[in-house]
Amino acid sequence: MAGATGRQPAPVRIPGLPERVTIYEVGPRDGLQNEKAIVPVDVKEEFVRRLVAAGLPVVEATSFVHPKWVPQLADAEELMTRLGPDGVALPVLVPNERGLDRALALGLRHVAIFGSATETFARRNLNRSLDEQFAMFEPVVTRALAAGVDVRAYVSMCFGDPWEGEVPIEQVVRVGKRLLDLGAGQLSLGDTIGVGTAGRVKALVAAFADADVPAERLALHFHDTYGQALANTLAGLEAGITTYDASAGGLGGCPYAESATGNLATEDLVWMLDGLGIEHGVDLASLAASSVWMAERLGRESPSAVVRALA
Ligand code: HMG
Ligand code: MG
Repeated sequence: MAGATGRQPAPVRIPGLPERVTIYEVGPRDGLQNEKAIVPVDVKEEFVRRLVAAGLPVVEATSFVHPKWVPQLADAEELMTRLGPDGVALPVLVPNERGLDRALALGLRHVAIFGSATETFARRNLNRSLDEQFAMFEPVVTRALAAGVDVRAYVSMCFGDPWEGEVPIEQVVRVGKRLLDLGAGQLSLGDTIGVGTAGRVKALVAAFADADVPAERLALHFHDTYGQALANTLAGLEAGITTYDASAGGLGGCPYAESATGNLATEDLVWMLDGLGIEHGVDLASLAASSVWMAERLGRESPSAVVRALA
């Protein structure tokens, strides 16, 4: 029911914005990968099931990376075996062929590779140079597509890098184009350390358009470190982007990126989309209840303003 009840915003549309968007939930992967204390696989399984039940159409569940690099996600096989085949897409991160082999062995249908726009982060996150990362990804994408597996590609550090500072837009476009040219279907532009602002979002989307990459192939992946994620999302909507990554309860951060904090909270995104009258299919109350449940498991309050307000 429309109306500013305090539990949901009154919808007022801004002409020209998309009517519907896809929320790509990354909480179980990006949200949990940085947690120091190992979260039991029972909790992870229930978290994913709750997110699916709240109506999220895509839930990135875990990573098939080296378990020494991300110990929190060492139970990826166990988790994905428990979750089994699902009506909803449950993508997993795979950096290399070894990761893809692990995903294929379980019959998974959606994977994501993750590249870096900068040399330093490629080395720190993937143990590869900027150029070497493509050689690592190429057989992953080729083999995944041949097996009928859907491939998304991330580019990290699209808005700034903690070691290299400003990242030229042309460099981001060059890396993103190379990942798409390998065959990835969608490219998610990551503000890994949350330094981006709205003008840069528009400039980046425009630069991709100039390079013949339309808005439909792009997704935006914001971390809310400096409180800019929603403003950046609005800029993305104005630029015609219809896929947004978000993490339930605002969990998250990358263990290999200095000062990376939580992703845009899915609840904060849903509240804004509801207010703009943009469809997304997610039940806010059920989602926020899941984040409260997860926050209890982690032993600290959710950083999401909307989760706290609703609680
Ligand atoms: P490496 O040490 O160079 O690996 O790490 P390698 O190819 O030299 O292999 C060394 C050993 O590791 C071998 O075993 C491999 O089999 C094994 P050995 O022969 O010595 O016994 N190995 C693996 N085992 C299991 N699964 C695998 C795997 N690969 C190799 N997939 C590697 C290279 C890429 C593996 C490593 O750097 C890594 O795992 N990195 C992952 C880092 C990560 O997960 N970061 C967080 C995700 S990215 C992110 O959060 C950003 C994002 O959210 C967007 C944004 O915000 O910008 C996506
Ligand atoms: Mg991230």
